[in-house]
Amino acid sequence: MAMKTILRRIDPQNPDPSVIGEAASAIRSGGLVAFPTETVYGLGADASNEAAVAKIFEAKGRPGDNPLIVHVSRKEDLRALALPSNYALDLADAFWPGPLTIVAKRKAGVAAFGCGGLGTIAVRLPSSPVALALIEASGAFICAPSANSSTKPSPTCASHVMQDLDGKIEMVLDGGQASLGLESTVVDATGPAPAILRPGFITREMIEELFGRLAKPDATGPPKAPGMKYAHYAPKARVVLVTGDAEKIAQKILELAQGCMEKAMVLATSQNASRYAGLGFLVAGDRSDPGAIGASLFSKLREFDEMGAEVVFAEGIEETGVGEAVMNRLRKASAGRIVEVGV
Ligand code: TXA
Ligand code: MG
Repeated sequence: MAMKTILRRIDPQNPDPSVIGEAASAIRSGGLVAFPTETVYGLGADASNEAAVAKIFEAKGRPGDNPLIVHVSRKEDLRALALPSNYALDLADAFWPGPLTIVAKRKAGVAAFGCGGLGTIAVRLPSSPVALALIEASGAFICAPSANSSTKPSPTCASHVMQDLDGKIEMVLDGGQASLGLESTVVDATGPAPAILRPGFITREMIEELFGRLAKPDATGPPKAPGMKYAHYAPKARVVLVTGDAEKIAQKILELAQGCMEKAMVLATSQNASRYAGLGFLVAGDRSDPGAIGASLFSKLREFDEMGAEVVFAEGIEETGVGEAVMNRLRKASAGRIVEVGV
């Protein structure tokens, strides 16, 4: 029997303590609560409650070896959960609270129910006032993956969460649009130098400015960010990513769409949008502003489903700054269907 999912509005900047109290009590009694963060909506459970953490995997249909991020409300909590390297502490000082997740060696005795059998733990101190208030009020560390069904695009508003999880979780806090729209940067801080496991709004350039060159993620041994090997961000349509020079991308997409027997649509940049007038298209944003493209990406992918797209041709963008995170998500969404037109 499906449960009744309670949906509550909440002011993202000044969360009402009584609504937070209701959500915190659901967390304390082992329930699942979806809540807004500055990146995407998270699906939260008490990290110390094994049954509650198991329910996260079940509700999302998430493979059990894909570990969860533990959300904390104070910088010191990193030391309560992990044995952080010196530069891990520097990373926390530089970028917390904010869209950065630090992977560190887990401390003995710390609950590891969401850790996928790894000896490490992923920790994030979000900046979202709702997330912070919920963690504080529940008196627990909160495990929270993105609040979508496994393989779907991450949710950037409460209605995305309801599309995927209505009837499967206790509560959704609706705090409007997530401001960043892409998940946090995940950094492996267990090796001699930081390595980016998942790019995000804390960019390679920002981290390099503090630490010099970054390490490449270790390709030997078990995968460092197990989640990255699974299908992701997939709308119902097949996504085909077209990369290279902006002008050539538009030509190529028109050519590919012409030869396509299915309902083809385009995820366009504003520079090229007028070229697709004969096709259906959605504008992701301006090439000069990859952050804006990142903020709209997941909701555009879901809109294509509503429009009945069968194939989506997505324009690639330059991979600098937040562009690296945008392209990482587009590559995953395309599941390897990538056409390179050259620069
Ligand atoms: O912005 C975010 O990070 C959002 C919000 C809700 O905070 N959360 C999120 O969680 O995106 P999720 O579960 O969708 O993605 C977590 C990523 C996965 O790729 C997972 O494999 C990786 O972090 N991860 C978690 N624990 C890890 C660990 N111990 N070592 C390496 N990677 C880990
Ligand atoms: Mg996710």
